[in-house]
Amino acid sequence: MTITERFDAQQLDRAAEILRIGGLVAFPTETVYGLGANALNLRSIERIFHVKGRPSNNPLIVHVADRNQLESICSTVSPIAEQLAAAFWPGPLTLVLPKQTSVPDLVTAGFSTVAVRVPSHPVARELLLRANVPVAAPSANRSGKPSGTTWQSVLEDLDGCIDGIVCIEEPTDFGLESTVVDVSSTEPTVLRLGAVTIEQLGALFPSTAWQVAPKFQTANSPGRRHPHYRPKARILVVSSAPDQTNRSALNSRSKAFIGLTPPPGGIPFDLVQICSSVEEYARSLYEFFRAADRKLLKEVWCQPVPMHGIGMALMERIARAAENRSDLDGPIQNVL
Ligand code: TXA
Ligand code: MG
Repeated sequence: MTITERFDAQQLDRAAEILRIGGLVAFPTETVYGLGANALNLRSIERIFHVKGRPSNNPLIVHVADRNQLESICSTVSPIAEQLAAAFWPGPLTLVLPKQTSVPDLVTAGFSTVAVRVPSHPVARELLLRANVPVAAPSANRSGKPSGTTWQSVLEDLDGCIDGIVCIEEPTDFGLESTVVDVSSTEPTVLRLGAVTIEQLGALFPSTAWQVAPKFQTANSPGRRHPHYRPKARILVVSSAPDQTNRSALNSRSKAFIGLTPPPGGIPFDLVQICSSVEEYARSLYEFFRAADRKLLKEVWCQPVPMHGIGMALMERIARAAENRSDLDGPIQNVL
């Protein structure tokens, strides 16, 4: 067992030193917490996969302090990649580009491309600057579970397995992961919806058809092959009150509700969060899933939101958390 050292934003020198010499340090970004390791150190990268229980065919995102470090990681940077970087970095956008040979195959799961991002969170930026190495950082959670958006949730999964964590009091700003855009070939493709929205991308490049990978199932989107964002509780997308026939069965199960307006009347919930905006809903979702699991609740009812802005990424995460529950009885009734 490892002792996981806790750092605050004033102790970044020590955290950066641990990263540089090959340790694992979790740190906040503007999206979710990342589990960082020196991207050039094979032992550290192996350890990331091991402590997360992550399948080795799911590649990692390399984080750098600024755009100038891109050439040390990517072999070619297309004009569209340049424009996207100029518009959204630092920020919650990940670009998939042809990789340099110096990037270990373990980081990219054998792909000839590498995912790169420059985060905007001041703690992440300062840590990357001080570490002065590219930092591979998947979300700081056990594989398949919701990403950690608070230091407490990160430690719930990884305490005693990693060397350190930089803690901030507030949850991370967006609460959902970065948007992943493949710009390694001529047609840019959104591989993962995220905090940078399709509308923002479209506003910058009106002529570009933002191809969203069909059902995100392509070989180019390796993250899609694995279950994600999933609490133990069963996730349901509930847009209206269930009818009377379902009601008594529904009432017998312990459950939580999250949405923008109050839940259907007359149904008892053990945990309720009404969010004042879609942004707050997105910021709260993973922590709410975890809170439901801590209370051993059986279901989480999620109210749908319109499919635009960050609402698209939010609905995609909810749908993925709800899918393929072969361990549960019966098909998922997504809309009651
Ligand atoms: O917001 C974020 O992106 C957070 C913070 C910590 O930066 N990181 C994150 O990492 O969400 P992770 O490992 O949980 O998700 C990385 C995603 C996965 O879906 C992975 O398949 C995809 O990026 N990815 C990484 N390298 C890729 C590549 N070469 N080609 C296609 N997809 C790639
Ligand atoms: Mg993840």
